Amino acid sequence: MIFGKMTLKRNDRSAAESAARAQRDAHMIAAGAIVFQVARVMSKLGIFSYISAPGGHTEKEIAEFAGISDYGAKVLLEASLMTGTISRDGGGMYELTKTGWFLINDPMVRVNMDFNHDVNYKGFWWLEDAIKNGRPEGLKELGNWPTIYQGLSSLEPQVQKSWFAFDHFYSDSSFPQALETVFASNPRRILDIGGNTGKWAMKCTAYDRDVEVTVMDLPQQIGMMKANISDYSEKSRIHGCPADILSPATVFPKGFDIVWMSQFLDCFSAEQVVDILRRATEALSENGRIVIMETLWDRQKYDTASFDLTQTSLYFTVMANGNSKMFSYADLCSHISAAGLKVIAVHDGIGFGHSIIECISE
Ligand SMILES: C[S@@+](CC[C@H](N)C(=O)[O-])C[C@H]1O[C@@H](n2cnc3c(N)ncnc32)[C@H](O)[C@@H]1O
Repeated sequence: MIFGKMTLKRNDRSAAESAARAQRDAHMIAAGAIVFQVARVMSKLGIFSYISAPGGHTEKEIAEFAGISDYGAKVLLEASLMTGTISRDGGGMYELTKTGWFLINDPMVRVNMDFNHDVNYKGFWWLEDAIKNGRPEGLKELGNWPTIYQGLSSLEPQVQKSWFAFDHFYSDSSFPQALETVFASNPRRILDIGGNTGKWAMKCTAYDRDVEVTVMDLPQQIGMMKANISDYSEKSRIHGCPADILSPATVFPKGFDIVWMSQFLDCFSAEQVVDILRRATEALSENGRIVIMETLWDRQKYDTASFDLTQTSLYFTVMANGNSKMFSYADLCSHISAAGLKVIAVHDGIGFGHSIIECISE
């Protein structure tokens, strides 16, 4: 019975601890907007970096270093202390914690933070409306376009910088491995749908001296792509195809060994994805393949990556187009088969967490 009692006590304690932790998590969420902005400002003012040196600094030194009032330093430091990004010793010296270290040293955290502040922050006030209406109701905070894609080329410079940094951060890290996968079959003509600024097209033409790449995207992006490749020695092998893929009037160019879609299908609703995939087969040569690169939230090695991706889905809901998201593998496969395609290979662990899915017509 003593054993029973001890077990009960231990259970009680761990139940109390887990309840206290759960309550703390709930309070972190309730104050999430403040926690985020405090961390961002601490980072931007250089305070996290300043106190990362061993020994730390006093509140007064921090205020002087950051060029802010003692009051300003106090509220930022006390809030950060309770968030766990910094610690304070008995002598009043503030130092960076491990969480704080990641905030300034993990490049993915920095890219995500800028993206969330510059692109998402104001618009997320409209999340409820976006969910109810199926429209990107937060986009009005950035401009007056039906989806963010029509506005990409005319976003405010800081917003545009953070949008492209976010987009490119993930795909850039995957391109080296993706090139090996795509060029294993020695394609001569590639259609890059949603090719954006032409980064992948430049990688392909640098990798293979004969390949021709056609970038298909909205007219605004084809303009940006052309400007972006203007000084590139291989630009004659990169072609632009301005088109709205959602328009039934859009005719796909023909005869491609590979139709490549990187971080593209996640910009569309389930019905649109099926339609795009079905129509994209028109662009394939006889033995051509559709090759899709996506970050699938349920095929990640690390739980943190799945966390980031499921949160990012809401950017599509509120800011991008109102009806798309990061796919799960099962959802994407069901769209692929609904479009009359068959998966012939899946490659996981590309870059920071992409999967490449190769498909052919059934
Ligand atoms: C998230 S970006 C992906 C860029 C690039 N493929 C990469 O991996 O970094 C999506 C691209 O799809 C394009 N896009 C969105 N809607 C489109 C539409 N209706 N027709 C054609 N392109 C579209 C956007 O302009 C943008 O360049």
